[in-house]
Amino acid sequence: MLASSAPPSLLFLPLLLLLLLLLPPPSLPADVVTSDPSVRWVEIEGAPLAHLLLDWDSGVLYVGGVDHLYQLTSDLEVVSHVRTGPHLDSPDCLPPIVAQDCPSATQTHNHNKLLLLEAGQGAESGSLIVCGSLYQGICDKRSLSNISQLIYQTSNPVDTQYVAANDPRVSTVAVVITTENKQEGGGAGGILRLMLVGRGYTSKGPGDIPPITTRRLYPVVPPRRAFSQEEELGKLVVGSYSEYNNHFVKAITHDKHAYFLFSRRDMWHKKEYRTYASRLCVSDRSFYSYVEVPLLCRGGYNLAQGAWLGNHSGEPALFVVMAAGQASTPVATSRSALCVYKMADLDAMLRRAQEVCYTEGGRGSSGQEEAYIEYAVSSKCLKLPKLSKVPVSSCERQTDCQSCLTIRDPYCGWCVLEGRCSRKHECQRHTEPNHWLWSFEPTNQCVTVQSLQPANQSRDEPTQVTLSVVQLPTLTEAEPLSCVFDRLPPQPAIITGSSITCQSPQPELLPPMPAGSDHMILSVALKFKHVTITTGNMTFYDCGAVSRLNQSSQ
Ligand SMILES: *[C@@H]1O[C@H](CO)[C@@H](O)[C@H](O)[C@H]1NC(C)=O
Ligand SMILES: *[C@@H]1O[C@H](CO)[C@@H](O)[C@H](O)[C@H]1NC(C)=O
Ligand SMILES: *[C@@H]1O[C@H](CO)[C@@H](O)[C@H](O)[C@H]1NC(C)=O
Ligand SMILES: *[C@@H]1O[C@H](CO)[C@@H](O)[C@H](O)[C@H]1NC(C)=O
Ligand SMILES: *[C@@H]1O[C@H](CO)[C@@H](O)[C@H](O)[C@H]1NC(C)=O
Repeated sequence: MLASSAPPSLLFLPLLLLLLLLLPPPSLPADVVTSDPSVRWVEIEGAPLAHLLLDWDSGVLYVGGVDHLYQLTSDLEVVSHVRTGPHLDSPDCLPPIVAQDCPSATQTHNHNKLLLLEAGQGAESGSLIVCGSLYQGICDKRSLSNISQLIYQTSNPVDTQYVAANDPRVSTVAVVITTENKQEGGGAGGILRLMLVGRGYTSKGPGDIPPITTRRLYPVVPPRRAFSQEEELGKLVVGSYSEYNNHFVKAITHDKHAYFLFSRRDMWHKKEYRTYASRLCVSDRSFYSYVEVPLLCRGGYNLAQGAWLGNHSGEPALFVVMAAGQASTPVATSRSALCVYKMADLDAMLRRAQEVCYTEGGRGSSGQEEAYIEYAVSSKCLKLPKLSKVPVSSCERQTDCQSCLTIRDPYCGWCVLEGRCSRKHECQRHTEPNHWLWSFEPTNQCVTVQSLQPANQSRDEPTQVTLSVVQLPTLTEAEPLSCVFDRLPPQPAIITGSSITCQSPQPELLPPMPAGSDHMILSVALKFKHVTITTGNMTFYDCGAVSRLNQSSQ
């Protein structure tokens, strides 16, 4: 799983060198650099600089620090410089900040928390995404060719638009992902661009921002707002947020997945700090694919400090610098190591954890509980040696088709002939059309009576009733369906395509008319054995009652 091979300083040297050129540390006399004519250098403000971003296509460099943003050419010439702070702000107050409403507001430094490139799409140009610690971590989009030009500014932010941690000490990481826009249709060219954000817990400000959220980047058609965390977009809800105080180190995408690397206190085990890698499918907007495993770096290196996706022996690998923490604290000591994890190995481990969680009831091959899903409050799935809880599937809790499809859970679907919400493999005839209606498929609907002909009928004249049904599961001729009017005995149903014909009940079997009414509505259930597949309503009227009513009104 891990290979602790090359010394860290060597591997991270290219990055360190670049940062040194940008910001000569005070201990290093500036002329050591400047006196060497082969070294280019530039002096910029904003220490400590937080982010350096290179646009591989244009060669442009973007640098984010405290109160300053820079755009540089690859020759380190400053093209554009933006001041982002200090401004009147307080983590206790929601923007816009008005001094008399927010006594704790002071001139506050703006720490750059996120600096990301949003690639363009067709005619639409890309942008530089910049999120700072001010104003509850709101973000802007700036022109890639000139960062002084704002493309989108979060003005009058609403509470769904707070993205980054409002505290300089609390980390925030993010990746931009592009996925198919299934729900909003073709208007936006069929793509949906989102930002997956991991942020640590902050004690001040809005307390309800989950550790991992999805933010909308494109398309943004009002009333939607950029960077907003929408109801239908995923967010990872885990118990008490302060308990899951993740220290995020890195977010990356690889293949069809997004990964987060973070450390936090292990709540279920020894309460020691550990590093975790978690993974989500990029196309999974509801976060049902979320799974996490602890990452071990032998020798007691438990706290990830930095990470990079690269190749090791020709295969994609995650390089992670790990430090040994001071006993039971999140504070790193100077003892550190580089651990390399092959992505294929990491994926295999994540897959294994997922399987154990979702399909094997959390029990490994030994029969011992290995993994755990706290499904009601999250999709969290920890691979742990011993746990006393058994995972609960949310499928069985849904007792009707509508609620089964509404939960949009990729592990659930409505098993039509069995009349239950179940896993796919638990539904006997899931391979046949319309037998297992997948909860996650937005276009899926329950078996429905679209029309019923005639919809009303004299109770004295039995007739043929034709039900037109959508999503009818395929059945063989030998498999009888029946119509059940109210609580009367079943009538055989004849299937012709998507239509079903039944005989309406004999007059003497029908329940009596409700007093004072000339008609009554009876339910018509379409049944397979004892399972109700769908229902409709039929009105029976009573001519005699109509005239009697008319008489009595005279
Ligand atoms: C960038 O935009 C700012 C504001 O619009 C403008 O003043 C500046 O000249 C532009 N810089 C470049 C290099 O185009
Ligand atoms: C890893 O190797 C593959 C194939 O050799 C290459 O296409 C890819 O760009 C490499 N990735 C990195 C991050 O160097
Ligand atoms: C009964 O159905 C007919 C058409 O099928 C409609 O014209 C009539 O209004 C309906 N009567 C009631 C009482 O619903
Ligand atoms: C049938 O009628 C009942 C009550 O009158 C109503 O609640 C139900 O939605 C109706 N069902 C259909 C399929 O129209
Ligand atoms: C009820 O009686 C009045 C006259 O007595 C008649 O015009 C009307 O058509 C009757 N209504 C029905 C529904 O039979």
